[in-house]
Amino acid sequence: MAKQPLSHPILMTPRLRLRQFREDDVEAMHGCFTNVESMRYWNTPPHTKRIETERAVRRFIDCTPSYYRFWAVADKTTDRCLGLVNYHDGHIRNKRVAIGYIVDPAHCRQGVATEAVSAMIRFCFQDLGLHRLQAFIHPDNAPSLKLIEKLGFRREGLLRENLRVSEEWRDDLLYARLSTDRPAEAGSEGRR
Ligand SMILES: CC(C)(COP(=O)(O)OP(=O)(O)OC[C@H]1O[C@@H](n2cnc3c(N)ncnc32)[C@H](O)[C@@H]1OP(=O)(O)O)[C@@H](O)C(=O)NCCC(=O)NCCS
Repeated sequence: MAKQPLSHPILMTPRLRLRQFREDDVEAMHGCFTNVESMRYWNTPPHTKRIETERAVRRFIDCTPSYYRFWAVADKTTDRCLGLVNYHDGHIRNKRVAIGYIVDPAHCRQGVATEAVSAMIRFCFQDLGLHRLQAFIHPDNAPSLKLIEKLGFRREGLLRENLRVSEEWRDDLLYARLSTDRPAEAGSEGRR
């Protein structure tokens, strides 16, 4: 008998519901992916065509949980998508993944990423039993550096020309948090 696909885990926080992407999230994500500031340190150039976002959202829906998974970060009350969190480069058997996140600029600096990424970290450690979470961040990406340090990740070094975007090589700072590290103060709990 064919295996049933596992349902996408829903992560609840005080203000947010992290859920599976749907095709009607394209509009909201297109706002993020066309914003030049938000995309300055992303691993692709800003989107210029809606089809690029449609394809991206399709990929977010068709996760391969052993390798990558995306959650739409939705407002708990309105269900409107405010951005995404993900793990990728997954080596679930080796208990290690990298994480990523983007929040609609209209909703930035309100603690959305802190709340959403905290919930995903908890899921990775507690539900997936992972040991090491990594983040690759451009040295000039101040909001992302602030966020990741606040969440208890430690800087481990500079990776020179680690990422190539539009013919340009970029450095990354490598950050990691281990399951055995002291839990971060940041918090938002829950999973349904
Ligand atoms: C990084 C990002 C997800 C943060 O989202 P957010 O919802 O604004 O984050 P929060 O409100 O939870 O803030 C987290 C911390 O970062 C700080 N911060 C957020 N934006 C900042 C900015 N522009 N400059 C300096 N600090 C900033 C906040 O003050 C907060 O620290 P505090 O609690 O000590 O005050 C968002 O800026 C973003 O989408 N950036 C573009 C995409 C991106 O670069 N992703 C990461 C790729 S590695």
